[in-house]
Amino acid sequence: MSLIDVEDLQKTFKIATRQSGRLGALKALVSREYRDVRAVDEVSFALDAGEMVGYIGPNGAGKSTTIKMLTGILVPSGGRIVVDGRVPHQQRVEHVRQIGVVFGQRTQLWWDLPTIESFELLRHIYRLPEARWRANLDAFTELLDLAPFLETPVRQLSLGQRMRADLAAALLHDPKILFLDEPTIGLDVVAKERIRQFLLQINRDRGVTVILTTHDLEDITRLCQRVVLIDHGRVIYDGGIEQLRARFGHSRTLVVDFEQEIRDVQVPFAALVRREGPRSWLRFERDTTTAAALIAEISARYPVRDLTLEEPAIEGIVRGIYETGSAG
Ligand SMILES: Nc1ncnc2c1ncn2[C@@H]1O[C@H](COP(=O)(O)OP(=O)(O)OP(=O)(O)O)[C@@H](O)[C@H]1O
Ligand SMILES: [Mg+2]
Repeated sequence: MSLIDVEDLQKTFKIATRQSGRLGALKALVSREYRDVRAVDEVSFALDAGEMVGYIGPNGAGKSTTIKMLTGILVPSGGRIVVDGRVPHQQRVEHVRQIGVVFGQRTQLWWDLPTIESFELLRHIYRLPEARWRANLDAFTELLDLAPFLETPVRQLSLGQRMRADLAAALLHDPKILFLDEPTIGLDVVAKERIRQFLLQINRDRGVTVILTTHDLEDITRLCQRVVLIDHGRVIYDGGIEQLRARFGHSRTLVVDFEQEIRDVQVPFAALVRREGPRSWLRFERDTTTAAALIAEISARYPVRDLTLEEPAIEGIVRGIYETGSAG
């Protein structure tokens, strides 16, 4: 069995829809109407102990929602999660004692207390033996250079210092697994590098399994042997970063607005990947056809109102991985 098992995971949020018109707000008060947002549609993957995996995808893909379900903060709408033998949301208290979590966007530390006091509080919360806590604190103080600001209240820390403190806090109780949601967000190049070094070290020396989300392509190329790529709540790739280019690096998408809805567009060398009313998204490979040839084919077959060529966020991400990869 794997350390982390995720099967057909789903999360649907119900959000109140705003009614238009002057009476809309009033109507919304009386009869609330809801719309479903499928944040996570169908996600499956398995992680083995000791892996460091990047969970990546464009904005709104469902990354944070997945991390929140893995850490027991959110209850899935469907599917199954087992982390180290536990079902996170059902065994939440026990689960949280056994994992480490860092959300780059917000600290888990006590805002008004000196940093060291947060670490002391955590020692009591986790009921850590003094010696083990001390050994870890000393190690992280060294590795993350915490000494200069241990006495400083968390609210006065720079973002880079705060992130280092949060990382130490997440690891004081020796968790087997570390969940990181954008651990380098907003940091400068030097601060990012320090965090990457640290993550590589705890993964290698302590065998901590790491799953991280990031928009920083250098984080991915430096840290992750494997990536799980998601888009619109679904896994679209899971594997090594070397093979990514073959899958996504060459394709582009032509967005076609037809005069009317066309259910099944048939054009050589292009695949229909999405359709909304009269608009269709057609993916094609750079080496099998050109945009010009494709546009000519389509216009000859169907009445076309408008065309745009787009690079989907996914392709942008993948292209970026190779650009940073080759630069670094
Ligand atoms: N609490 C919530 N209520 C309603 N909708 C939500 C909630 N949390 C997330 N969503 C929606 O779910 C989708 C996925 O959000 P999520 O935060 O998981 O994306 P993400 O991949 O982390 O994006 P980003 O890269 O921008 O952080 C989005 O459409 C978002 O608006
Ligand atoms: Mg997010």
